[in-house]
Amino acid sequence: MLLIIDFGSQTTHLIGRRLRQLGILVEYADGENAAAVMKKLKKAGNMPMGIILSGGPASVYEKGAPTMDRAVLASGMPILGICYGWQLMAKILGGKVESAHHEYGPELLTHQENIFKLSKTKHTVFMSHGDSVTKLPLGFRAFASTRQVKNAAVVHKNNRYFGVQFHPEVDHSEYGLEMLRYFAEKICGEKISEFQLDPKEIISRIKDRVGDKKVLCAVSGGVDSTVAAFLIGKAIGKNLLPIYVDSGLMREGTTERVRHIFTKLIKADLVVVEAKSRFMKALKGVTDPEQKRKAIGKLYIEIFQEEARKHPEAGFLGQGTIYSDVIESKGSKKASNIKSHHNVGGLPEELQLQLLEPIRDLYKDEVRELGRILGLPEEMVMQQPFPGPGFAIRIRGEVTPERLQQAKAADTIILEEMKRAGLYDRVFQCFPVLTGAYSTAVKGDARVFAEVVALRAYESRDVMTSRWADIPYEVLQTISSRIVNEVPKVSRVVYDITTKPPATMEWE
Ligand code: XMP
Repeated sequence: MLLIIDFGSQTTHLIGRRLRQLGILVEYADGENAAAVMKKLKKAGNMPMGIILSGGPASVYEKGAPTMDRAVLASGMPILGICYGWQLMAKILGGKVESAHHEYGPELLTHQENIFKLSKTKHTVFMSHGDSVTKLPLGFRAFASTRQVKNAAVVHKNNRYFGVQFHPEVDHSEYGLEMLRYFAEKICGEKISEFQLDPKEIISRIKDRVGDKKVLCAVSGGVDSTVAAFLIGKAIGKNLLPIYVDSGLMREGTTERVRHIFTKLIKADLVVVEAKSRFMKALKGVTDPEQKRKAIGKLYIEIFQEEARKHPEAGFLGQGTIYSDVIESKGSKKASNIKSHHNVGGLPEELQLQLLEPIRDLYKDEVRELGRILGLPEEMVMQQPFPGPGFAIRIRGEVTPERLQQAKAADTIILEEMKRAGLYDRVFQCFPVLTGAYSTAVKGDARVFAEVVALRAYESRDVMTSRWADIPYEVLQTISSRIVNEVPKVSRVVYDITTKPPATMEWE
């Protein structure tokens, strides 16, 4: 088992996810309670074999920045510091951290010494930092660097302390898993094995918790809520009550797909709540992204309360929340709040339903794998994720029925063309954004001043990092021509070429 000390990085849980992939157990602690957690684990005969210090949003010299008990360093255990974790370790051991060389996104890492025994010594890693270690503490030497950061990977002469400025845990850091594996296996002495997701275990946990109570299940037709509802259905049969709220903010054809999945594949008594006009009313005049999310989340919960009242016998509300939803809504104590994801907004006390989130600890790729193991159709499992607040967060400014229609029409064109070009499955998500910016165009000899639509398409596996997709020019051209010609009041199409980090996938 390895101990992860969490300083609030958006990707802390991914470190655990990667280690789980290698068959390694993980415990989490805060910097302040790490020594106590280690003591407790030792007492239970479960001492960790090494420690990983996560990244975090703070700066080590900042007032109130998270720190850690010196006992962690004095424990003599192997330590790998990642980003903030490395900076904090350097500061405590007498090094110097400065706000220099900001790097956000992909960087080429060159190893001067092949300490991690990789098959390639020049590769891409993902960076997300404003500070870096400019003076190494005594006994450390750098063995890999980027264009700007000399001390991008370091090792202590004891060969037990390591520090990396980049994030090996994210999918877009090449050889990241290999580096974590090297640390876990060769330095900490962990035994590596293959981890298998076990739906039987999840189903039996649901059974134990729910008993013979009924579960209202919020479904959207997306992978997460379908897999969650499927697991719940397998555990409790007809006591599953799936409810689909038709907000009108989803992709064309979603309601029909939901009907098919829940009546044909899961054979449940699906309830469809028609609520399009209520959502439009709640969004009237709202332009602020957070306000939009809150308005949608509030109404969604309200509708559930109404449904719940019709089923006083229900004891639980099932949801397809996954880990990236949780972490981006401040799932970890020290993390920054990036966006309020409506599906983890919390339920008001008076609802008196317990929350049942069977896939809360899983990442998207794990949920897909689970769906496959459960026998859900590949087309359903591989469908692109679609955010709960739907097109509302892809329309900058006020959501009006007319703009919603424009967004849906542009979206249909993008999906058609991406599928035609065989690219749909190769991107994580692709969609239009009504940018709220206006530009001039000439249509049929007349000047029009109309909205700019942005196309966003990117690759990602774990949602925490992404790269914009390399779409052939001809496909971009076809999408652009079709949107400008077929969608009313659009003057221009632009392609968004920003990685995550720093940009989030959605514009709002
Ligand atoms: P961001 O924009 O945060 O998106 O990089 C990460 C992933 O989350 C989706 N997303 C949401 N999903 N409710 C959801 O169910 C939300 O409020 C929400 N906001 C973003 C987004 O589409 C992407 O897949």
